[in-house]
Amino acid sequence: MTPIDLRSDTVTRPSAGMREAMAHAEVGDDVLGDDPTVSRLQQQVARLLGKQAAIFVPSGTQANQIALLVHARPGDEVLIGEGAHQMCDESGAAGAIAGVQFSVLGAGGLFDAADVERAVSPLGSEFAPSRLVSVEDTHNRAGGRVWPLDRLRAVCAAARSRGLALHLDGARLLNAAVASGTPAKERAAPFDTVSMCLSKGLGAPVGSLIAGSAELMTRAHRYRRMLGGGMRQAGVLAAAGLYALEHNVERLAEDHANARRFAELVRGEPGVTVDDVIDTNIVMVDLAPPARPLPEVFARAFERGLMLIPMGPHRLRAVTHLDVDRAACERAAEILLEAVRS
Ligand SMILES: Cc1ncc(COP(=O)(O)O)c(C=O)c1O
Repeated sequence: MTPIDLRSDTVTRPSAGMREAMAHAEVGDDVLGDDPTVSRLQQQVARLLGKQAAIFVPSGTQANQIALLVHARPGDEVLIGEGAHQMCDESGAAGAIAGVQFSVLGAGGLFDAADVERAVSPLGSEFAPSRLVSVEDTHNRAGGRVWPLDRLRAVCAAARSRGLALHLDGARLLNAAVASGTPAKERAAPFDTVSMCLSKGLGAPVGSLIAGSAELMTRAHRYRRMLGGGMRQAGVLAAAGLYALEHNVERLAEDHANARRFAELVRGEPGVTVDDVIDTNIVMVDLAPPARPLPEVFARAFERGLMLIPMGPHRLRAVTHLDVDRAACERAAEILLEAVRS
């Protein structure tokens, strides 16, 4: 029996329709600017995000790193929320490649305009200058939280008034757009650069984009090449992305409803805590006695056909996606409860 895999929304396999679109993609050498399918995807995503240009890159990590290179210089300070992917999950790339240092704002991932105002370096010119505010929407480690639009705009206005640049790690921006009913371009509007992934809830096998002004994207293009992100006949991948944008955006609402259902079924079990509100497709589950310890829960869940991912010594994550339906999510909750009980 194939296990129910809720480790991430990146585990989806391309559907038959997506594979068909990939097989028939018109391609060229994109490093030479010749791939018509990549160009079409870039234009479409630039429009979707309300920016002048977008470039196709292999991963969200690379898009985020390009953003740092575009906005900051080595030694600059980047203001960021707790648990941000750019800071915690990119293997130290921000320090190793862009040479920036992070200053953490607020608690739990989201923060306020006042946090930005307090954090902007008040020190003299010989100290590290605050250069960029980076926002993650939805916020992965905060449990797929969607930034309330007012809070997002207030943070961006505070950053702007201090002369800081703004980057949006929108790996799951379309989840935020669908969940909030706010178009992606509205959420992206205050930011100079926006990254977005096709390989998560949208179900494409590979690919992310970074979008911004034509001037910033010209510079981003150079950094993509520097990081080895130039891909040749990448139209086969871009075709999957175009297919995903056409078929898999509105349905993200199903993943969100399935995540809420999963949370509802496990909530209330002694020793198990989940957030009261599940905004999108990510559910963080915290374990404490009388629940079994996390390694045992993992092993028992796996034996019974459920895969989850650890996010800390007592925390695990379940992510819904287009390869798991309502019944699978309900079964997953049952398995987790069996695994948790002594
Ligand atoms: C919020 C966020 N940003 C960026 C990334 C990086 O994307 P990739 O795995 O394509 O490098 C992820 C991946 O899970 C993510 O959750």
